[in-house]
Amino acid sequence: MLRREFLSSGFAAIALQAAGARTEESLKQAAAPSGLLVGSAVSYREIDEAAFAELIARQCSIVVSENDMKWKALRPAPDKFDFTRADALVAFAEKNRIKIRGHNLCWHEALPDWFHKIAKPDNARELLTNHIETVVRHFKGKIHSWDVVNEAVDVQDMRADGLRRSPWLNLIGPEYLVIAFKTAAKADPGATLTYNEYGLAQDGPRNEAKRHAVVALLRWLRRNEAPIQALGIQSHLNGNRPFTGLQHFLGEVRELGLRVFVTELDVNDKSFPPDVAERDRMVAGVYRDYLHTILEERYVDAVLTWGLSDRDSWLRHREKRAAGIARPLPFDDQLQPKPAFFAMQAELKKVSRRD
Ligand code: G3I
Repeated sequence: MLRREFLSSGFAAIALQAAGARTEESLKQAAAPSGLLVGSAVSYREIDEAAFAELIARQCSIVVSENDMKWKALRPAPDKFDFTRADALVAFAEKNRIKIRGHNLCWHEALPDWFHKIAKPDNARELLTNHIETVVRHFKGKIHSWDVVNEAVDVQDMRADGLRRSPWLNLIGPEYLVIAFKTAAKADPGATLTYNEYGLAQDGPRNEAKRHAVVALLRWLRRNEAPIQALGIQSHLNGNRPFTGLQHFLGEVRELGLRVFVTELDVNDKSFPPDVAERDRMVAGVYRDYLHTILEERYVDAVLTWGLSDRDSWLRHREKRAAGIARPLPFDDQLQPKPAFFAMQAELKKVSRRD
């Protein structure tokens, strides 16, 4: 068989597969014509594994640090910063020409134990600004976008403004949000500054109230001259609840002139039937419907899943299930593409050019 005939026959794909190489179009390739960025959360320890590092490099045009840029990872002591793991992640991304999102600068979780011992109303502002200045300056010019504030809204905390009663709110008051954005903007004017939140994608009374509170917060940030440029919609989806309220919400966000990133996409399959093939098919259906809905919005610039392989999903570690294990991501435990991968690929290919 001539080389040309061999390549155009199915034998080439089979031979490549047998050699362990990937033949399907990657997510990055599927999204390239539209200019949309696509990727995943990654951890320092994961990129040590050659097969996984290769998968990330092949599939992703953008990655986000899952844990290695959180306070707990960067701040072993009040007077110490340890950038070892985060620097390794950034170096990996740079080497593979992948953009990187920073996650996160200000959150109520993943604070080191010492923080709770020493933070007081009279030093909290200094702790916050010193952390943001040091971290953002350290990575200046290397970060595509920062999740400056993460999950500041919790309507169940029953405040009129919907804000979460977080350590930052309790210590500084609502002004902490403006301080965080202003400090980050000064330290790296080139990074896109993002507010990142969960519980916004699917319908339900609590999510509806949350969307309302988040829009109010975004307007308040604008009025108070916080330099915010994007909203991160985490998109930890639960089963196949609908997203009928999403478009209206996106319209309100667009009116504020904010870009949108899908930052932490995965699908919790807990409520799906036990049969694995059936579950994978249903998970893929949620990926398809969700991306179809949200990618109609031209202000969406990036889609990132919260991990690529099921084996690394936070849901595996967090949830106790009576039966079965979570399969929320586009690749299985052996790093093989699942129906969710092909659903993503198909939806990304439908997106028209973003300018
Ligand atoms: O690194 C230690 C390890 O040394 C130790 O042996 C092990 C024992 O449990 O714990 C490891 O740390 C865990 C870390 O994940 C790395 O696996 C922490 O206990 C655990 O709390 C941490 O959970 C992370 C969680 O955020 C809290 O920071 C999850 O991996 C991460 O997926 C999750 O991500 C959040 C986003 O930041 C914000 N949005 C929601 C999302 C899911 O909860």
